[in-house]
Amino acid sequence: MASTHGAAKVLVASNRGPVSYEVREDGSLHSRRGGGGVVSGLSAIGPDAGALWVCSALSDGDREAVRRGVGEDGVLMLAIPADVHADAYNGIANSVLWFVHHMLYQTPLEPVFDAEFRRQWASYETYNRAFAGALAEQAAPGAAVLVQDYHLCLVPGMLRELRPDLRISHFSHTPWAPAEYFRMLPDDIRAQLVWGMLGADRLGFLTWRWAHDFMACANGIDAERISVYSPVPSEPRHIEHTPTGRPPLSTTWIGVHGLGADAEFLRDRSRRPDVEERMAALRREIGEAPDGSARKTIVRVDRTELSKNIVRGLLAYRQLLDDHPEWRERVVHVAFAYPSRQDLAVYRDYTAEVQRLAEEINSQYGTPGWTPVVLHVKDDFARSLAAYRLADVALVNPIRDGMNLVAKEVPVVSDEGCALVLSREAGAHWELGEDAISVNPYDVLETARALHEALSMRPEERAERSKRLAAAATALPPAQWFLDQLHALDQDPRQPA
Ligand code: G6P
Repeated sequence: MASTHGAAKVLVASNRGPVSYEVREDGSLHSRRGGGGVVSGLSAIGPDAGALWVCSALSDGDREAVRRGVGEDGVLMLAIPADVHADAYNGIANSVLWFVHHMLYQTPLEPVFDAEFRRQWASYETYNRAFAGALAEQAAPGAAVLVQDYHLCLVPGMLRELRPDLRISHFSHTPWAPAEYFRMLPDDIRAQLVWGMLGADRLGFLTWRWAHDFMACANGIDAERISVYSPVPSEPRHIEHTPTGRPPLSTTWIGVHGLGADAEFLRDRSRRPDVEERMAALRREIGEAPDGSARKTIVRVDRTELSKNIVRGLLAYRQLLDDHPEWRERVVHVAFAYPSRQDLAVYRDYTAEVQRLAEEINSQYGTPGWTPVVLHVKDDFARSLAAYRLADVALVNPIRDGMNLVAKEVPVVSDEGCALVLSREAGAHWELGEDAISVNPYDVLETARALHEALSMRPEERAERSKRLAAAATALPPAQWFLDQLHALDQDPRQPA
């Protein structure tokens, strides 16, 4: 056990932290704060709670800030060597774990687990060990440690060995792979991932679907040492395990904490002048139908991420224009596809394909006064909110998605209420499925029919449904999501709440 401990009573660990740095031309450091659920959750527990956020230095600016000893109170950036981080983040987290959990491999060509993979895996271990070491050093006796996501699956197990006194949880913001898919990973790697996670007292998922997938994967590891209990729905699910195969047994509880849209923030932010300006600009781009009426809009906003299924979304839109020529000149697909993980060739190729297909649709169907697809690739939050406000239809069709917050945000922000075309494979479908139009994300014809149905919905029905969608979408505010996880660590799951 580590001989020293720190003073932090609540610790969060994640790859990407709440602040990033940039070196300006004059050599000064400029910091930018990010948003998101964990940020607002931490602010909800207040500055005096003794909270510390441990994260990676991701950019050159971040590493420079660490070198100069510049930082924010409550944030500890770890300057993990750039090559180790690249292997762990691009190689393992984004190219293997992300692909497994989102079922993105194009078998039979992928995946290939070779010597290069083993080398990258060693970096993933080193990177997780760096987090575990820093957390062990900073945590007060009995502190609560909230580890986030697939980048840090090994941390709970490593930290448990260093500091058995800590209360540790791990939260997955992604889906978890179905057991049959997880079995593609080499046996020892699967075992390491599951044992790493089982170092936690509690494992959190966004829906029961992903929690059950994890339990099924854990079931397949070592029946002698791991027992999964998934009883009737009213009883707590848990996993009993012992690394030695003999008592004492440890217990890891499984919980689900949904994450909703931040209604207050979104409603306030989307009414600011910069959003109004962008709405005016977008309206000009969208233009008017030949009879002078406003054109309908189908809006999507995504990172250009393979799991978001943007290409099939465009194919479905083209199918709509083919099957229903009456929509030509009367509808515009506003598609924002913001760059993501451009270090990976497969993401760069995907981005190029999205752009190529949008151009093809525009040259095939466009007229002098009508651009069928308005595609923007430069990230602009105010413009995203402007598109949300103008949306008649929101298209959210991921292949597989932990939750998908866009599906929850558009109904909250849209001015007239929007119809939602939603993949049944998004975690959000669990909460929004009743008032959305559900689609199989692979079925382009069905998605085209759903777009037609959404565009044809009577305005009163659309407004009613959108109101119910917004209510369901905001039922679990981000701060609540964070506090729920924290409180769950204090409770004995056997006792009723
Ligand atoms: C999405 C996922 C998160 C993940 C994040 C990483 O938002 O839902 O689970 O942590 O991507 O994104 P990054 O840009 O840091 O690779």
